[in-house]
Amino acid sequence: MSCSKSKFHSSRLIFTGDMGDKKILCAGLVCLDIINVVDKFPEEDTDSRCLSQRWQRGGNASNSCTVLSLLGAPCGFMGSLAHGPVADFVLDDFQKYHIDVSLLSEHAQCSFPASVVISNIATGSRTILHMNRNLPDVTADDFSKVDLSQYKWIHLEGRNADEQVKMIQKVVLYNSKLPEEHKITISVEIEKVREPLFQLFPHGDVVFVSKDVARHFGFCSAEAALKGLYSKVKKGAVLICAWAEKGADAMGPDGVAVHSDAFPPEALVDTLGAGDTFNAAVIFTLSNGGSLKHALTFGCQVAGRKCGVHGYDGIVAK
Ligand code: FRU
Repeated sequence: MSCSKSKFHSSRLIFTGDMGDKKILCAGLVCLDIINVVDKFPEEDTDSRCLSQRWQRGGNASNSCTVLSLLGAPCGFMGSLAHGPVADFVLDDFQKYHIDVSLLSEHAQCSFPASVVISNIATGSRTILHMNRNLPDVTADDFSKVDLSQYKWIHLEGRNADEQVKMIQKVVLYNSKLPEEHKITISVEIEKVREPLFQLFPHGDVVFVSKDVARHFGFCSAEAALKGLYSKVKKGAVLICAWAEKGADAMGPDGVAVHSDAFPPEALVDTLGAGDTFNAAVIFTLSNGGSLKHALTFGCQVAGRKCGVHGYDGIVAK
């Protein structure tokens, strides 16, 4: 008789069985980030020079994949892609980071979404101007083609929430036929202040709510947000709220708020994607059976490291 290697510690909220080399899937946006590094934010209607300029693959779910991959987790990205030179750049970059892209939906007639980013090294601020002209998000129908047996964790960046709820229902149905240790964990990110996204609250095992959304609901700290919003998540879920330089808080079914301070770098260089980095490091830890406290601390550490470097490559020690 083979002995089960599954483990469920009372201090651990996520059941992590022996999931072998199953992947983490992140579904959401991939776009082009055109990053302009400046040491002074430009004045309107002036013509100034940047310190440097680069293209980077962007989008929350795509950035989280980059970080998961750098941390050593096998992962895949699900999202939409237009055709053309930008798509080629993005595909090459996914490949460079060993991110599985078999779940990309291609839309030949659409334009590639892009962000122009002003990244100010004097303050670390990132100012984003984003445009998505006509590229549709993946649908529940696209999602029904996913071979769920390949995944141990599915993370959805809140976007087309009506469809995403249907995707989650498919995972819930799949899970209902499986023993606890083989169930897929679902996380959702509610980052943008958009009413339709709030329907995602009761659908994640782990729910990441942003500072912006917390503020929208009238909360002035992560701890207050967790206390005020926890009733919106499903029974047994974990709610997590990161609050920039104040660190991050989380709450599980025991109702006790867990906190980690931030780990600011010596010099704040580039905060673009710090939230996506935090989410990835938390998912990485929880999906490996780590405690909530450890996940939060690691999330803040890796996000802090990210803020001290341009891009993502410097987040792991070589
Ligand atoms: C960072 C990011 C960028 C992208 C923008 C889209 O979190 O995903 O890569 O341009 O947000 O809102």
